[in-house]
Amino acid sequence: MTEKRTDQLKFAVFMTGDSNYHNAGWRLPGAYNDAGLRLDRWIEFAQTMERGKLDMLFIADGIGTAGIDNLKATRANPKVDRMEPFTLLSALASVTKHIGLAATAHTTYNEPYHIARQFASLDHLSGGRAGWNFVTGANAEDAKNFSRDSHQVHGDRYDRAEEFADVCIGLWDSYEDDAFKRDKDTGVYVDTDKLHVLNHKGKYFQVKGPLSVARPPQGHPVLIQAGMSEPARELSARVADAVFTSQPTFEEAHAFYADIKNRMDKYGRNPNDLKILPGVAIFTGRTAEEAEEKYEALSALVNPAAAVALLSARTGIDLTGVPLDEPVPELKGNDVRVSNPQLMFKLAQREKLTLRGLVQRYAAAGPHNMVRGTPSQVADQLEYWFLNRAADGFIFLPVYLPGALNDFVDMIVPELQRRGLFRKEYEGKTLRENMGLPRPENVFLKR
Ligand SMILES: Cc1cc2nc3c(=O)[nH]c(=O)nc-3n(C[C@H](O)[C@H](O)[C@H](O)COP(=O)(O)O)c2cc1C
Repeated sequence: MTEKRTDQLKFAVFMTGDSNYHNAGWRLPGAYNDAGLRLDRWIEFAQTMERGKLDMLFIADGIGTAGIDNLKATRANPKVDRMEPFTLLSALASVTKHIGLAATAHTTYNEPYHIARQFASLDHLSGGRAGWNFVTGANAEDAKNFSRDSHQVHGDRYDRAEEFADVCIGLWDSYEDDAFKRDKDTGVYVDTDKLHVLNHKGKYFQVKGPLSVARPPQGHPVLIQAGMSEPARELSARVADAVFTSQPTFEEAHAFYADIKNRMDKYGRNPNDLKILPGVAIFTGRTAEEAEEKYEALSALVNPAAAVALLSARTGIDLTGVPLDEPVPELKGNDVRVSNPQLMFKLAQREKLTLRGLVQRYAAAGPHNMVRGTPSQVADQLEYWFLNRAADGFIFLPVYLPGALNDFVDMIVPELQRRGLFRKEYEGKTLRENMGLPRPENVFLKR
């Protein structure tokens, strides 16, 4: 993977419940504090992304509310109300033409038939622009909404996710692309020689099929994985088209990139057929000082107690008794295989952060890379990661809206285009075509 790159950057945009990535983004003067449930705001964002020729609007999601037992902290948490992603993306599909529409849907408490059907429908509605972020679920509290006391064990979650993905793929391929004849003269609606009944009987699922939706325009929606643990890497290498990842430094991103791509060979896959997109939060301005001021202005709005409570909920480690202005102690959780606590602790160590500094950093960029500077300085970093194969593109985290997204589209994108690193026009009609991903063959025709 050392040859010179001839491809271009890919960009997804990370949208959360209230739409601002930064937890205090909604408090910034001029930022929207009501976008989460307002369709007109979402349409504005999607249209801005299309103006910037970005690849994908991605909606992060959970099926529970992290940290809800701490009511004092919840008062400051803008992530408690959010639109259900399929409903929102279906509305956006009808007012956009190019932008990919990706939803998060969990494999731990859902059933594959439901999810396969929803994504197939979204792919048809959008003319082939659907993407699925299939996560096992970062929020342990979700379990309590699904008749369980605790989150399924990490290894078992991934076991289930492997089988879940295979069942969905089998269901999407229930009908061959040209199965539906709808021939008025012969009376043949569907050619049943081109129908494949899955009859899946596995460890977690028994699913007969077929899916009640014709094969999606993209064959399968773009499959995105967002875990970083060992089983997550293996799952990504086997089936994912894209990987979202939190990599705070170039070195970590570079090692992760090589690791995932090297695992693909044993599954008979070409490394170019999977795009690795690390997260990046960007603070930019006409000068480096202006960019810095934007970061400071947002940091000053972070409610430290609420932010500590939220970080505790996300990492599963109680940090509420730790003094705010002292260095962060070692973060050790019950489930140390979950990547978040390890990443946050390493970050606090490397940047010599106090707990206050860590929660401000976490509010801005989570465990992701954060870049502050002029458009040219920002583009230098993105270019370096891309050319040196730490990334095939990025998942951009808009810290506040619409400002950070507008800055990205109006200041960073033109700089990347000028350098030949990013498209000036969409290449194709579907998300797969724009992302340079192959359309998958029907699995039943491979057998
Ligand atoms: C960019 C990105 C987006 C993510 N989005 C979600 C999400 O929307 N919902 C969720 O539950 N987890 C999300 N995750 C978390 C992962 O899916 C995963 O649960 C977490 O990294 C723990 O898994 P691991 O131990 O395999 O790394 C996201 C992770 C990344 C890097």
